Amino acid sequence: MSDHLRGDGDVARMPRRAFLSRGALTVGALAAAPLVGARTAAARALHDVGRGELGLVGMDHVGITVPDINQAIEWYEDILGAVAPLSFGPLEGAFLQGVLDVPAGTKIDQITSLRIGHSANIELFQYEAPGQRHDMPRNSDWTGHHVAFYVTDIDAAVAYMDSRGVTRMFGPFSLTAGPAAGQTINYFRTPWGSYIEFISYPNGMAYQVPSVKPLWSPKQNGLEAPVTNVPGLLGVDHVGITVPDIAVAAGWFERNLGFINPLTFGPFSDTGDFMTALVDVHPRAVVEEIRMLRGGNGPGVELFKYTSPDQDTRFRRNSDWGGHHIALYVRHIEKGVEYLQTKAGTKLDGPLPVTAGPAAGQTINYFETPFGTNVELISYPHGMAYETQAPIDLWDPRDNHP
Ligand SMILES: [Fe+2]
Ligand SMILES: [Fe+2]
Repeated sequence: MSDHLRGDGDVARMPRRAFLSRGALTVGALAAAPLVGARTAAARALHDVGRGELGLVGMDHVGITVPDINQAIEWYEDILGAVAPLSFGPLEGAFLQGVLDVPAGTKIDQITSLRIGHSANIELFQYEAPGQRHDMPRNSDWTGHHVAFYVTDIDAAVAYMDSRGVTRMFGPFSLTAGPAAGQTINYFRTPWGSYIEFISYPNGMAYQVPSVKPLWSPKQNGLEAPVTNVPGLLGVDHVGITVPDIAVAAGWFERNLGFINPLTFGPFSDTGDFMTALVDVHPRAVVEEIRMLRGGNGPGVELFKYTSPDQDTRFRRNSDWGGHHIALYVRHIEKGVEYLQTKAGTKLDGPLPVTAGPAAGQTINYFETPFGTNVELISYPHGMAYETQAPIDLWDPRDNHP
């Protein structure tokens, strides 16, 4: 392992904003109540989000297609301490082609939504589809992706994962230069070959100066670790996706959805085996650039531009293993969909209201993007049917604190 990891600058000593002020601790006390579903419209109305034609609140969930949904649910429950209050399916019929852009004859065996901590949920899919890809993307592939969880004490969280025998990449690794200085990360590989990350930035990052509106963090929902087995795990911090053209992808989020891009960093490469050790990619893979985007109050989207000798430059469909989408909560689905369609023009069939079963109450619409990851708009203004039975509800992005 060499020392030649390239950073990108000399701004590590920029003054850092006192990121965790007493405000965040106050929020922690307020955030305890929603754990049992005691939410109020009045509390939500205080939040300065969801205004404008799009009505964006923030990321609701990341959807991921897995080989064996029961294996994935059990792993998330056992290792991360997830709860799984909402499962539905099977679903089949020609309508799936138009709603999800999947091949004719596709069947969804099951959809299960997981909550971990107090941030966006993870929506697992098990699909059966003609021509379904049965390999998983590497982080450097165009469909590479990871889900990153914020942890308050990364050493303790990593020690826990080690004690559970989880496959861990090199780390914890701290960035000490450039605008992302202050963050420490560690990647893990799940038994079915997808990736999660732990990230911590207890004192914020170097880019956080008073003139910059920072990324959202699950720390803003309090520093208690709820609904998890991992010490100090607060919830999803960001979802990382590798894209063909990072400027096009960032522009799509910015123009169509009003995302902001307060943090850009990289490149990272190494002449030894460090890239393989750190993120399980080809040793000559290069992270050309990383852009962290914020949309509303919710986890960010981390865009990667990778080059790699073994890079797979095909997209995946939602029905392929490793297929994934990012779902954003909007206040009014009809208005939000109409707005995004006016801007992006890539709507799939919908809006589709779910009117029966445990997911009844949600309405969704997927959009295609130029970077291969569908973006879904979702709304459930009156909640969902499962909530009457669940001891712990899914996380509701309307409960995020700015
Ligand atoms: Fe979804
Ligand atoms: Fe990440």
